[in-house]
Amino acid sequence: MKVSLSNRMKAIVDAVPECYVVADIGCDHGKVLYQLLKTGKCKYGIGSDISEMCAIKTLDLLRKNNIRNCEVTVGDGFNAIKDRVVDAVIIAGMGGYEIIHILESAPKNYRYLVLQPMNHVEEVRRFLADNGYKIEMDTMIEEKGKFYDVLRVNSQGKTKYKRLNFLFGMNDAHNPSFVHYVQENIAKYEEILKNVPKNKQKDIKKILKYLHKISKKGVKNG
Ligand SMILES: C[S@@+](CC[C@H](N)C(=O)[O-])C[C@H]1O[C@@H](n2cnc3c(N)ncnc32)[C@H](O)[C@@H]1O
Repeated sequence: MKVSLSNRMKAIVDAVPECYVVADIGCDHGKVLYQLLKTGKCKYGIGSDISEMCAIKTLDLLRKNNIRNCEVTVGDGFNAIKDRVVDAVIIAGMGGYEIIHILESAPKNYRYLVLQPMNHVEEVRRFLADNGYKIEMDTMIEEKGKFYDVLRVNSQGKTKYKRLNFLFGMNDAHNPSFVHYVQENIAKYEEILKNVPKNKQKDIKKILKYLHKISKKGVKNG
């Protein structure tokens, strides 16, 4: 059975570090877990989803592809994996506030998080910085005209972002998706600038200056 992954899913897989046990909270179709186990990047996988139907989809995909080093459970957020030893936890394809809500009640008994918020990424970054997480990788992938942020986070450490890093992330200028994203934002803020009264233009001009700078140099993490 051929399993094809979207570029967004491939970027999530790439962000997961090689490890022993990976858990995918909100696994849905199960393709990310499938890829991690099939390639041996992770040795054991736990899939979990709040929806029984989605958990069954994942189980089906793994069984049909003869992947046995895994289990799939039904549960809300970290409840499904509490008391388990896990190296990396994936929470992907959900809204930013949903991800924050899941993390608010999460134990930190794992080393890495891989997050792929569909919106409110700035708020997710702020939550991580305020709660003792270190964003180690903050990348972006464009697919069919949409930009998706993918974050690899250490559960221990500090995120030292400045104000605009929270908004635009930390990518290097060699990432074509990021360059395109910055260009689109330059156009967006130039349009905003035209419609803002003179006494309120200062902040927009600061953002534009920053965007022009990072479109050439990117942003360094750490
Ligand atoms: C849009 S799908 C994303 C699937 C996959 N993670 C991806 O990125 O392609 C979101 C999944 O998260 C599940 N979900 C939503 N809230 C959840 C929660 N609190 N705990 C576990 N799963 C949840 C939904 O049932 C759904 O299957």
